[in-house]
Amino acid sequence: MSFFSCCTSSEKINKNAFRGSSRDFNHAKSMPSCGRMCFKHDHSKRKFIQQEIAKMGRGNITSQTFPYHELCVATGNFNPENMIGEGGFGRVYKGRIKNINQVVAVKKLNRNGFQGNREFLVEVLILSLLHHPNLVNLVGYCADGEQRILVYEYMANGSLEDHLLELPEDRKPLDWHTRMNIAAGAAKGLEYLHEVANPPVIYRDFKSSNILLDENFNPKLSDFGLAKLGPTGDKTHVSTRVMGTYGYCAPEYASTGQLTIKSDIYSFGVVFLEMITGRRVLDQSRPSEEQNLVIWAQPLFKDRTKYTSMVDPLLKGNYPAKGLHQALAVAAMCIQEEAHTRPLISDVVTAIDVLAKTQNTTNTFLEDKECS
Ligand SMILES: Nc1ncnc2c1ncn2[C@@H]1O[C@H](COP(=O)(O)OP(=O)(O)OP(=O)(O)O)[C@@H](O)[C@H]1O
Ligand SMILES: [Mg+2]
Repeated sequence: MSFFSCCTSSEKINKNAFRGSSRDFNHAKSMPSCGRMCFKHDHSKRKFIQQEIAKMGRGNITSQTFPYHELCVATGNFNPENMIGEGGFGRVYKGRIKNINQVVAVKKLNRNGFQGNREFLVEVLILSLLHHPNLVNLVGYCADGEQRILVYEYMANGSLEDHLLELPEDRKPLDWHTRMNIAAGAAKGLEYLHEVANPPVIYRDFKSSNILLDENFNPKLSDFGLAKLGPTGDKTHVSTRVMGTYGYCAPEYASTGQLTIKSDIYSFGVVFLEMITGRRVLDQSRPSEEQNLVIWAQPLFKDRTKYTSMVDPLLKGNYPAKGLHQALAVAAMCIQEEAHTRPLISDVVTAIDVLAKTQNTTNTFLEDKECS
């Protein structure tokens, strides 16, 4: 399926590295372009962004435009009481659009100059042109004057991060089966980007806060502002400034800026490991040897007797031991140092689908005996 030919490039603003946020590792200052649209003059991008979106989408833009006042009405003038989250780009509000009678999540981007604009454009283009049950649906956007606002379908259960890594005491932890379902769905979203979209799309920002969960805990990938079109022809990678989020970023990409779909596989492996262990990829509150999840896990992967000690204690032993072994094997394969040895996402989907379809959560102790 071919969608658009423009080159996408984007940059994300810095945030506290240890809160799972995004960072431009090089602080480079190049001037990227998006198809024929050049971001040299601030006024041109502001004035023409709506026309450019329509032009680059070649008549395939499914999301609608909203006037600013309609989004003010929908969110009660962006009332802080309606705020449901905040990221590096701005605040997210719950709202209801009367015209279409739909509950939505409204992301009001900070007015921080053209970097935000580039992200905005990439996000609208990608989500308008690509559709899959595991990608969040963009209902529309607003580019009135200085405003840059994205309107998404409302995901009732927030982000995976909210349920896995920032669990309030009164909230039930995700069970093993739900975790495997979420991992399988998120992998299918990536599979669509890597293996169905043409040219392939490298997501570049796969992390637990970008996996949103609907009322049935079905996962959808969100935040496509950093996405890049993958290499075409005989090219093996695209060269770009290093963007993404500390901890989730593949080592070869962080050190060389050479981006491939295997960089996303690494990030997937890190998130999958977070789901199995209930540990954040970077966690300063832990002892120093446990602060980096990947470094902590590497030696444990080699010792089967240590597997049960890796599991999220909140699961209270309710997981199939065989499933745990397989899940850890998938995670270990995805986070291998050598990018070319990491699996394709379609292979990951096949493996995790099997884990998600295994319903029983048998007592760990009994299962461990069977496995040893
Ligand atoms: N469509 C949505 N439906 C429901 N909640 C949402 C939706 N989009 C975002 N949120 C909530 O808003 C929070 C902030 O999202 P946002 O994408 O702005 O930042 P982030 O992913 O946490 O961080 P970063 O900006 O570093 O990527 C999410 O964690 C989620 O709880
Ligand atoms: Mg996000």
